[in-house]
Amino acid sequence: MPNAVPVVDSTPSNLPEPPLDFLVIGAGVAGLSAAIRLATAGSVLVVTKEELAESNTAYAQGGIAVAMGGEEDVALHLEDTIAAGDGLVDAEAAGILVEQGPERVEELLEWGTAFDREDGELMLTREGAHSRSRILHANGDATGREIAVSLLRHVQKLPNVRLLEWTTGIDLLVDSRNGQRQIIGATLLDGEGGVLTVYARATLIASGGAGQVYSDTTNPAVATGDGIAMAWRAGADVSDMEFYQFHPTAFSMPNAPRFLMSEALRGEGAYLINARGERFMERYHPLLELAPRDVVARAITREGMDGPVYLDMRHVAKDLTARFPGISQFLRKYHLDLNRDIIPVRPAAHYLMGGVLTDVHGRTTLAGLYAAGEAACTGVHGANRLASNSLLEGLVFGALAAESMISDAAGRTSIFPPKTKPDLSAFEGGRTSDADTERWIGDLRGNMWKYAGLLRDADGMGAMQHVLKSLATSMPRALSRRAIEARNLHAIAGLIVRSAFGRCESRGAHYRHDFPEHDAIAQHSILERDQLRFQPSLQGATTALNGV
Ligand code: SIN
Repeated sequence: MPNAVPVVDSTPSNLPEPPLDFLVIGAGVAGLSAAIRLATAGSVLVVTKEELAESNTAYAQGGIAVAMGGEEDVALHLEDTIAAGDGLVDAEAAGILVEQGPERVEELLEWGTAFDREDGELMLTREGAHSRSRILHANGDATGREIAVSLLRHVQKLPNVRLLEWTTGIDLLVDSRNGQRQIIGATLLDGEGGVLTVYARATLIASGGAGQVYSDTTNPAVATGDGIAMAWRAGADVSDMEFYQFHPTAFSMPNAPRFLMSEALRGEGAYLINARGERFMERYHPLLELAPRDVVARAITREGMDGPVYLDMRHVAKDLTARFPGISQFLRKYHLDLNRDIIPVRPAAHYLMGGVLTDVHGRTTLAGLYAAGEAACTGVHGANRLASNSLLEGLVFGALAAESMISDAAGRTSIFPPKTKPDLSAFEGGRTSDADTERWIGDLRGNMWKYAGLLRDADGMGAMQHVLKSLATSMPRALSRRAIEARNLHAIAGLIVRSAFGRCESRGAHYRHDFPEHDAIAQHSILERDQLRFQPSLQGATTALNGV
């Protein structure tokens, strides 16, 4: 029986008394994992723009990859993570992920996370590019929700933490008075349309990814890249924004949502077949249906030129309704059954490997600002994330970011709020109707899918740059959540296109028709204001990051 979602007071009167020590933007696995540690050292405010349970975390189906079987198991997990990342995984970050992962998962078990068990033993499944079964799952295919709920229940017991729902980040507050740019909090839009100014000694961006920048995505409506866009506008560097992972198997039927058909289906034996009924993956990779995601997604795109591609589990002798209750419930609406029918699928935007550049302790290039989870880029996933490593990433790097926030804040002078009012000029100068805002966002998303999606080239990227220039002239300007999201999506699209244009090779999730080969040296992209540069190791790039 799934844990019930906790209820919170969602009014601004719930704000802690100033001064606030720690502000966390985002209430998914990274934000909550951080909040639990931060609460040991000061007051914490966690803000989220919908109700608490509605994070990208809650949509994670397949599970959480973790090596619980000792050293050899950990070494293999590291090997698989590095292999999936196509030459670009930062080994230090990946080593931390796989080594600290088991401890974080043990904690989850102590906090009551109910992973699925058989005869009392934790059940493990396998997904693409994993050399063995190491993926824990909960309620069949509702792992993210179970983890999110158990973290929330834990956080709610902590007197130092306040949770504020229906609150959208507008911009970070930058203080340059002592000659150094430092982040001292954020402006927020509350559920009634009021602007809140929150000052904090350290601010964590844990707001997840940006799948909504594409018309076709498995991500929920909240995934609009807000935290990354806020950090970028404030002056933080971002990295590897061209690496957007396209999940190979999102449901595909006219007018139906692009619901995720978990990779765990293939882990449990699903075949991929084309419109002629042929199993085709043997033409693309020796691991067949369990090849890395980027390979499977491109294979499906090629095979799907003349018609849909299908998941076929009719040969799997298992009660698939019991194993995948959430997916089965979704499919029932379309009169489909995993045991009986083939399921139409095609790729959709799923996960951003890039994000705000951080070291492995969550420090960004701006003092007072930290990032963790999908919003951050430590280099842990390289050019293509290994399936089910994202929940683990949020747990591990959320906790590490909290530790550095605590130690840096201890040596930090108090925040003296500036006398000037926060800058809201981006939202001055007229209203845009809700319908126009939706049209504008739809235009951006459709063009991103067309020009900067799974298969890219210079012409497409050039066309997208024109689209973005033109959309900038009609940016929605109401001070509303949707207009804030529109502005953020525009920023994210710009970052993706600039980075993708600059990367003249194909690697991992970034595939260019005009440059189909790998470069000899694998390099990360880093965008620092108007300058795009490439360098081999991100952790090398972050040695000078300061969190003072
Ligand atoms: C899935 O269940 O296929 C998604 C899991 C992930 O993205 O790692």
